[in-house]
Amino acid sequence: MINSPLIQIQNVNKIYLTADQEVHALDVIDLDIFEGEFLSILGPSGCGKSTLLMLIAGLTKPTTGTITISNQPVLKPYTDLGIVFQRDLLLDWRNVLDNVLLQIEIRRLKSSDFEQTALDLLQRVGLTDFERRYPRELSGGMRQRVAICRALVHDPPLLLMDEPFGALDALTRDQMGLDLLHIWEQSRKTVFFVTHSIPEAVFLSDRVLVMSARPGRVVEVIPIDLPRPRPLSIRDTSEFANYNRHIREIFKVQGVLVED
Ligand SMILES: Nc1ncnc2c1ncn2[C@@H]1O[C@H](COP(=O)(O)OP(=O)(O)OP(=O)(O)O)[C@@H](O)[C@H]1O
Ligand SMILES: [Mg+2]
Repeated sequence: MINSPLIQIQNVNKIYLTADQEVHALDVIDLDIFEGEFLSILGPSGCGKSTLLMLIAGLTKPTTGTITISNQPVLKPYTDLGIVFQRDLLLDWRNVLDNVLLQIEIRRLKSSDFEQTALDLLQRVGLTDFERRYPRELSGGMRQRVAICRALVHDPPLLLMDEPFGALDALTRDQMGLDLLHIWEQSRKTVFFVTHSIPEAVFLSDRVLVMSARPGRVVEVIPIDLPRPRPLSIRDTSEFANYNRHIREIFKVQGVLVED
């Protein structure tokens, strides 16, 4: 299923210059991200995961190196994508449907052309009957679902997700993972998914990229050869446990996980 590279990251370094210091966030990142793949990024806090996401989106510039999407260099904010941040960033004064349609307004498209798509997406994530509710009337998981619908409503080929389920309880998080896989299996968008959870990364992904502590480097890219569609019970298999163990061992060798 893996096709040609959609995103090519070549020799990318990122050094943030602040008033009193330099922060070397990313160190010589070389990575191809393939069209239609689900790629997860795992790494310790501060290793540059969000920075890498912002670089791909063109929201910050690399210090050295190049990033291309569809063979075009990313030199300014790239718009043919959807981004989901860790905080849902919903607007309190707009109802659920209008929060999803905000994406359309920002793009100066006609909201009425996308209303049915928005309603279909909300239905797909179990939010039928909540279209006219306001964010304050929703649970954290429901709010995050609205944010995901907003990132998808214009049908972008690329979805960047920065710890989208980080603030959710474990059960809701599992459900969101299933919902996301369901959407992904129907649309096969390219997904760049940042997480701190090893099992979540293994469960969702075609490949898992493990990063070192700052300055972030690529330690290993692990293909996950588990069949799809993946039921939750796949997490009880020995293959699944082996992937988890392998990644845990990488973090131990790196000194990120320490056992007495
Ligand atoms: N705008 C900025 N200016 C200066 N330093 C920054 C800026 N953004 C990030 N950094 C620094 O770059 C490093 C990487 O940050 P980044 O947010 O990419 O890490 P992360 O892997 O996403 O961490 P976390 O898992 O905690 O979200 C950190 O040391 C951070 O302090
Ligand atoms: Mg981050």
